Amino acid sequence: MLGLCRLWAFIWFLLDWELLACGISPYYRNDPAADLRARLSREAQIFLPGSEGYENATQRWSRLATPAFAIVVAPRTERDIQETVRYAKEKDSTFLAIGGRHGVANALNNAQNAIGIWTRAMRTITVHEPLVNGTGTATVEPGVEAGELTSTLFAQGKVGASTACDCVGVMGAMLGGGHGFLQGRYGLTADNLVSARVVTADGGRVVTASASENADLFWALRGAGHNFGVVASVEYRVFDRTPATDAWAYEEYIFSHDQLERVYELANGMIGGPVELTHYGHFERRTSVDAEHCCLSGSFGKGRKSPSRYTEPLRALGLLLPPKAAVVDITQLNGVAGADFSSPFCGHGADITLAPVGLRRWNVTALRKAFDIYSALPLRLQGSAALLEGYATEAVQRVPEADTAVPDRFNNLLASPVMIAAPRDDERGEDGYESDVPDELYEYAERFRTALVEGSGGKLHAYVNYASGDEGLEAIYGYDQWRLEKLRRLKQTWDPKGRMDFYNPIL
Ligand SMILES: Cc1cc2nc3c(=O)[nH]c(=O)nc-3n(C[C@H](O)[C@H](O)[C@H](O)COP(=O)(O)OP(=O)(O)OC[C@H]3O[C@@H](n4cnc5c(N)ncnc54)[C@H](O)[C@@H]3O)c2cc1C
Ligand SMILES: *[C@@H]1O[C@H](CO)[C@@H](O)[C@H](O)[C@H]1NC(C)=O
Ligand SMILES: *[C@@H]1O[C@H](CO)[C@@H](O)[C@H](O)[C@H]1NC(C)=O
Ligand SMILES: *[C@@H]1O[C@H](CO)[C@@H](O)[C@H](O)[C@H]1NC(C)=O
Repeated sequence: MLGLCRLWAFIWFLLDWELLACGISPYYRNDPAADLRARLSREAQIFLPGSEGYENATQRWSRLATPAFAIVVAPRTERDIQETVRYAKEKDSTFLAIGGRHGVANALNNAQNAIGIWTRAMRTITVHEPLVNGTGTATVEPGVEAGELTSTLFAQGKVGASTACDCVGVMGAMLGGGHGFLQGRYGLTADNLVSARVVTADGGRVVTASASENADLFWALRGAGHNFGVVASVEYRVFDRTPATDAWAYEEYIFSHDQLERVYELANGMIGGPVELTHYGHFERRTSVDAEHCCLSGSFGKGRKSPSRYTEPLRALGLLLPPKAAVVDITQLNGVAGADFSSPFCGHGADITLAPVGLRRWNVTALRKAFDIYSALPLRLQGSAALLEGYATEAVQRVPEADTAVPDRFNNLLASPVMIAAPRDDERGEDGYESDVPDELYEYAERFRTALVEGSGGKLHAYVNYASGDEGLEAIYGYDQWRLEKLRRLKQTWDPKGRMDFYNPIL
């Protein structure tokens, strides 16, 4: 009997020690969140630090935007989300929705000891058949990733606006706008939001936001939507596939850096072109092509056939490698852009930051300055790239500016460095974190962006979904005074306690 008691004591000690080592506060020690578990559906899960689910939920694309979670809940129903938000409120705990984990906003770092609401288990896509005249809706749950949306719809004979990176969360992208290949025809992802079910930030209610219900919230969800409530599902516009949206002819070119001016003057000639005409340029270092210099690469995509009017002048500039040319379908297009599920854009854990700037046209003088900054990056940052995105804008610009919280539809182009610091083992501290890297990252990213802003002759417009938050609220949410006033008013209505202040918060 005595022996048994000792054994119990020993096991208890070990368990206790292990739990503490995993960073669970004593508060949770015995039955972590048992009271929450009791309020959730049977299928909902709760993941504790150290578990595989917790690891999956907390892996971030960029280590520089890393919220810290005490526990992670994987809801299965709208009600689960509401109960979790309510629970967080009762415990006076921070909570944060977790989608595709690609957010880079600095404010994400302010979420500490938070309850994570990982939406990944909610990823049903239901197309409402039949579509009428080629148009209808699908109900999309919040855990769907962009590539899944595209391929699921495609398999059912449908298409819809989405993003150009497979593993980005559809909801995170949509709430900030959502740029992608079909935007010229169908608008931003957010422009295709018909209605949303929203768990209010205090969990008190679940409301529908649409053109006819809670229209102000509906306005804000499209461009500033990470600030008001947790979206539990959306009705989103889908379209029958047509030959125009099915086949994408693309050509990929690699130019030497001294062609920059000529290439981007030609790219300016594509702005406002045919509805699917897209150009997507990179600055990148391809040592296999040119060991000394950086290269420009770019792909140009359009409907069924690449129009020679655009391709011939580019080919005539002289290419470093023979062009790649093919016809693919919409599900393969993110791969052409280098951002499919198997790409580094779908990896995690690097020190990466973006520094977005929206532009009307390429100013090749400014672009040259940015390129010079890029090509002189210190060794540690030489894995960096720059994205020079020129999606078609016809349908985006058809939406009146005042109709949504997206503030800069007049911009045709989206540019950003993707500033990456290579890990250097000898400099790692105990936690593997190098304290000197971020400053250098941000400094170069900012210099790059400043060159482009100066060349634009205007103010900085920073796409909310790429922005770090250092840009200032006007740069992110718009310079028209009424925009921030309206957003602040809505924040007072829907989240007066500022519970959802972890993604470029409206303060
Ligand atoms: C490699 C890469 C490629 C990208 N490509 C594109 C692109 O092609 N087009 C484009 O427009 N953008 C693109 N983005 C930007 C992308 O839209 C944002 O990073 C977006 O926030 C990612 O959402 P997420 O769910 O993946 O990230 P998360 O970090 O999981 O979420 C981002 C924010 O949204 C909130 N959120 C998530 N789900 C919900 C919900 N259900 N309700 C309320 N809030 C929620 C989170 O709490 C968080 O604050 C890209 C970003 C990266 C890093
Ligand atoms: C975690 O991710 C891995 C790899 O994607 C997957 O196989 C596994 O099922 C995930 N586990 C949980 C609990 O989500
Ligand atoms: C479908 O399109 C046809 C022709 O464009 C039009 O006459 C008809 O009203 C449309 N039907 C609906 C329900 O929108
Ligand atoms: C282009 O940018 C340069 C600065 O790099 C600026 O001097 C020039 O005025 C800009 N050109 C136009 C047309 O805006």
